Amino acid sequence: MTTTHRLRLSEMTGLTPLITTTTVADPQAAYRALAERWGTIAPVELEPGINAWLVLGHHELCQVVRNEQLFSRDPNNWRMFYEGVVPPDSGLGPMMFPRDNCYFADGDKHRRLRAPLDEGLAGLDEHRMSRFIRATCADLIRGFSNQGTADLVSDYAAVVPMLTVAGLFGLPPAQGHQLRAALIALFSSAEDSQPAAHELERILTGAMEARRQAPADDLTTAFLNHNNLRNDYEIQQSMVLMISAGYETTTSWIAQSLRLMLADNRFAGRLRGGRLGLDDALDEVLWRDPPMSNMPARYALVDCELAGMPIERGDALILGLGAANQDPRVHTDDSWLEVGNRSHLAWSAGPHACPAQRAGRMITRIAVDTALHQLHDVTLSVPADEIQLLPSPWTRCPASLPVRFTPSGPVPR
Ligand code: HEM
Repeated sequence: MTTTHRLRLSEMTGLTPLITTTTVADPQAAYRALAERWGTIAPVELEPGINAWLVLGHHELCQVVRNEQLFSRDPNNWRMFYEGVVPPDSGLGPMMFPRDNCYFADGDKHRRLRAPLDEGLAGLDEHRMSRFIRATCADLIRGFSNQGTADLVSDYAAVVPMLTVAGLFGLPPAQGHQLRAALIALFSSAEDSQPAAHELERILTGAMEARRQAPADDLTTAFLNHNNLRNDYEIQQSMVLMISAGYETTTSWIAQSLRLMLADNRFAGRLRGGRLGLDDALDEVLWRDPPMSNMPARYALVDCELAGMPIERGDALILGLGAANQDPRVHTDDSWLEVGNRSHLAWSAGPHACPAQRAGRMITRIAVDTALHQLHDVTLSVPADEIQLLPSPWTRCPASLPVRFTPSGPVPR
């Protein structure tokens, strides 16, 4: 691709909708078609009339996320947002509208708000956390193991991460379930989001009050004691960020891993035959189907050119993590050569790279391992090609994974 396109992003019409890259059976074919037409940065349509650049190349993606002087994380720099082109009830809102936390901040403000997260996560007692996750997984499996059938997404993959992250903040499972319901409502529709926001606030304020009275070895106490968080509002926003950022991503990683193990005989054979360790298998999922296939966003702070494309100040750039992972400059098709290669961008890179890589891996590894061991003859109860994906432009998380297995008696604690 050598031609330089001079049309402004906002003037382009007939663009590929971003959601086609996540909902098709072969997302890589969709990314390849875009790259063949446009190169390593392609214009796409987020919603009718709302366009963005999709960064497809590994090198270009690293350039964008590692250069916050040129590409901001703050949606207040998004022209279509500040000019009011994006309607307030847009489906893009939950992922792209600004909130007051480190996720949407740059520079010093980002570093100030990010430090409590990094330090809190670094201080976790991983043995205790691992015991907690194992017990959570066993409890959930105990809830359906005598039925012989389950939906491994709604009964398991979507529950383990929320109960775990809630547990890191010292919240018991019952409140973890309440948090999950509130979060789903908050991000689903405008009508539900107001009461859900109040419910979320009620639960988190309660946790903060409880820890003020009785400090404990948990993230709520760590956030309360951190000098960088200046008031209750900042503490609460940091809690909401951790809980929401950890939820869908980890759900998707667990669900995608289980789907591959149940539906892809080659993958399952390599794993069961001992030729692929569980951690390498999980990495292969991060390469093939990263939890966030497309990640919003960065906003250009100046007019510039990237991979031959004219980027204008205020344009949005979506991180095509799934596409960048298959960039032939960093990845071959030979799964044997790829064992141990962790240069994928599933966690992104640069100052906003996921701070919870160890925690996310621990949750996923234990959840997948426990399911495969405790439901040892588990099989899909629908043909693999009938597994539906959640209708999202960001993730390719299976909507459900109906399975059957031999019903068992109680699972030992
Ligand atoms: C397990 C699978 C996970 C994956 C694949 C994942 C991936 C990501 C990615 C791609 C980003 C965005 C980076 C960017 O915009 O450049 C991110 C940010 C973030 N993630 Fe994760 N994540 C996972 C789990 C978690 C968990 C379990 C937590 C919390 C307990 C978490 C907390 C965060 C936070 C707070 C940020 C924002 C960091 C910042 O803006 O500085 N993530 N994650």
